[in-house]
Amino acid sequence: ANKYRPFPAINLPNRTWVNQIISHPPTWLSTDLRDGNQALIEPMNIERKLRMFDLLVNIGFKEIEVGFPSASQTDFDFVRHLIEQQLIPDDVKIQVLTPARQELIHRSFEALRGTKQAIVHLYNATSPVFRRTVLGLNREGTINLAVSAATLFNQLAATQPETNWQFQYSPETFTATELEFAKIICDRILDIWKPTPENKAIINLPATVEVSTPNIFADQVEWMHRNLSRRDSIILCVHPHNDRGCGVAAAELAQMAGAERVEGCLFGNGERTGNVDLVTLALNLYTQGIHPGLDFSNINEIARIVEECTQLPIPKRHPYVGDLVFTAFSGSHQDAIKKGFAVQKYDTFWEVPYLPLDPADVGRSYESIVRVNSQSGKGGIAFLLERDYNLSLPRRLQIEFSQIVQKFMDASGKELASRDIWQLFEQEYLQE
Ligand code: KIV
Ligand code: ZN
Repeated sequence: ANKYRPFPAINLPNRTWVNQIISHPPTWLSTDLRDGNQALIEPMNIERKLRMFDLLVNIGFKEIEVGFPSASQTDFDFVRHLIEQQLIPDDVKIQVLTPARQELIHRSFEALRGTKQAIVHLYNATSPVFRRTVLGLNREGTINLAVSAATLFNQLAATQPETNWQFQYSPETFTATELEFAKIICDRILDIWKPTPENKAIINLPATVEVSTPNIFADQVEWMHRNLSRRDSIILCVHPHNDRGCGVAAAELAQMAGAERVEGCLFGNGERTGNVDLVTLALNLYTQGIHPGLDFSNINEIARIVEECTQLPIPKRHPYVGDLVFTAFSGSHQDAIKKGFAVQKYDTFWEVPYLPLDPADVGRSYESIVRVNSQSGKGGIAFLLERDYNLSLPRRLQIEFSQIVQKFMDASGKELASRDIWQLFEQEYLQE
């Protein structure tokens, strides 16, 4: 018997991606305070939420999902605190999530009372398995649920005219939903909200669970991009999760396929394997010559604050931020990096081998780039002596001395700092 279960077939059109490169950054939405927070072992208290909110504002996020106020009193109080203490900058929109349930929608609008502008994010699950197993609804029942929620949005917004409202709809479990059904339900909601090119609605396509390769997700996004009604009055958004480890690729391909906005979390926090990592996405753009519009020039400080808020460590090999990502241990890498630094000019393209970007651009120092252990060769040793002790070894001495260092490290099995290398050099050549 086949021990693997077949994955349900998804009907897809032929792939005809609209853009093959990403030429500008998407609109970013941080859901660190909602999807990220709800997945923490110990959810953030108000103080930690405030630190996270400040951090997100300082990085440059203009749209921030601040919570699920109808589900949690802490989230409700936090939203009220932001509004009452006037902590939301004028150019930042807060977003709150609400399920398609009347009393919870009332509570969400209540949480937002008095704010200048807000995005209210409505969701209900739409895939066959959810309709059948979780909700006990057929297609029509699922549409009716969403339609009555969307209608209530209009009514409640009219009672709070002091706020500039924007509405967002997510067919949760989109990636497992029949595409025509996802289109029908989104179109029905748009018929109620009647967005315009001046006041667009957001249609968010979540990979609630990442179930396919990124190109399949992008095909689904492209189909919606081509077939949704009122396309010029919609911001098409994606919300990838990372269950197959491909969230970043999925978001990038989705942008090539028509998505204009991306929801995710710093360093990929979020449910299970996380939401898509916005830091990696943004810095991937940066290394392609496109400024992401977010400031990661002090990435160590950002990582420190995020670790404090989430109480989760960031892995040492995490792209762009991990402790080890600007470090070369192997001799040939060290040699190439040394040669690259010697010719790299300040105002030209970054071309130092093995380093995808100038570590200084994210506030990292050159110091940690070259480290020496038993895998390293003469290049790294010479580099450290030259950089830290202004000592330039002739080639033959480099070879001779590196054998001495090697022997020492083989015996100790430890990494050597440049100070240790210098001491060995002194012992060997400078002492009587
Ligand atoms: O992953 C998801 O589907 C969500 C929705 C509520 C947007 O977080
Ligand atoms: Zn999510």
